[in-house]
Amino acid sequence: MLKGKRIILGVTGGIAAYKIPLLVRELKKLEADVQCIMTPASCDFVSPLTLATLSQNPVYIDFWNKKDGTWTNHVELGMWADVMVIAPLTANTLAKMTHGNCDNLLLATYLSAKCPVLIAPAMDLDMYAHPTTTQNLEQLAQHGVLITPAQHGFLASGLEGQGRMMEPNDLVREISFFFEQSISLYGKKVLVTAGPTYERIDPVRFIGNHSSGKMGFAIAKSLLKRGAEVILVTGPTQCQLTHNKLTRCDVVSAEEMLQQVKEHFPTCTGGIFSAAVSDYRPAEMHSVKMKKTADELTLQLVKNPDILQWAGDHKKHGQFLVGFALETNDALDYGRGKLEKKKLDCIVVNSLKDSGAGFGVDTNKITILDSNNKKQAYELSSKDVAAHNIVEYIVKNKL
Ligand code: CTP
Repeated sequence: MLKGKRIILGVTGGIAAYKIPLLVRELKKLEADVQCIMTPASCDFVSPLTLATLSQNPVYIDFWNKKDGTWTNHVELGMWADVMVIAPLTANTLAKMTHGNCDNLLLATYLSAKCPVLIAPAMDLDMYAHPTTTQNLEQLAQHGVLITPAQHGFLASGLEGQGRMMEPNDLVREISFFFEQSISLYGKKVLVTAGPTYERIDPVRFIGNHSSGKMGFAIAKSLLKRGAEVILVTGPTQCQLTHNKLTRCDVVSAEEMLQQVKEHFPTCTGGIFSAAVSDYRPAEMHSVKMKKTADELTLQLVKNPDILQWAGDHKKHGQFLVGFALETNDALDYGRGKLEKKKLDCIVVNSLKDSGAGFGVDTNKITILDSNNKKQAYELSSKDVAAHNIVEYIVKNKL
């Protein structure tokens, strides 16, 4: 998995740096190409000569080489790499990364790197538990940085707790896993629809449904984890998600959702349509609040556009399309009918009959049907796990 992979290994000044020669050795055994960048402080913990010898590459520390006056091009280093791993990552460098400081070569390379970045924090337990550290890690996660959490155990301070850098062998496994999983959608752009749509009756009232948006947001998160760029077109929701590869388009009605889908779907590798779109909207939207006068009120409704059907009709060769079907009865039959009618590659069916599936809850029980007549049923799980299963299915079946 790591053969020929180009890895920048950034080393910062923490005691766990003593484990880095072992990490380099393991990566080299697996035939990865490793370039080390060290912060000046890390040289007190591990020798650049050791890392240069083991990596069979020069080690970069300064912006320029004092001996021959040559400049180290951090942009080129960042472009060269398939992944940048920063291990160990101290609280200090972590804080600088969140603020965009670049007072050393490692930070400048991080800021200019186009490749995915994976970090292995290591620090004393109190520093690791400090809210600032937690916030900084959350912020980096939002920027798309992949985090291998610090481990529990004995620390150099003599204390015991969470703060140890992941062991080199485990880190190698994480890096391999990353190449296997995390970049499986790198360079792909996926459109996701989420949440309900609200169809305005007047400035105060609307027709809507109970969709929370949780499933669509979980799918977006899962796609982002695998390196995809995501266009999230969402109806009104309380859900929050920020990520540097996420474009969020907030809409209210089905017609607004269709406009966004028409604009973005043609530029995407595929789409996952999980929104609970209102099938009908009021024929007329009253510009002022309707007053209660008569004892009965009849609202005339007109059919909304079927957004997924539009995407199926306009799907280009190579684009994948996934729909959802929430049913109360005969779920699989209805699901297969929709798969065919809407020209989908697969459909995620869930039945309101299954307890734990449906609107508002944090769990879901799904069955995936695809256009090759395959069917895969999953156990009841959290919406995050269901989202992972859907994305995994798309990747594995090369939809
Ligand atoms: N969908 C859509 N636009 C619509 C209606 C549905 O994009 N106007 C999408 C949903 O996001 C979902 C799938 O189509 O992926 C659901 O299809 P369907 O079951 O046909 O929608 P329903 O309105 O629930 O259909 P029915 O009421 O006939 O069961």
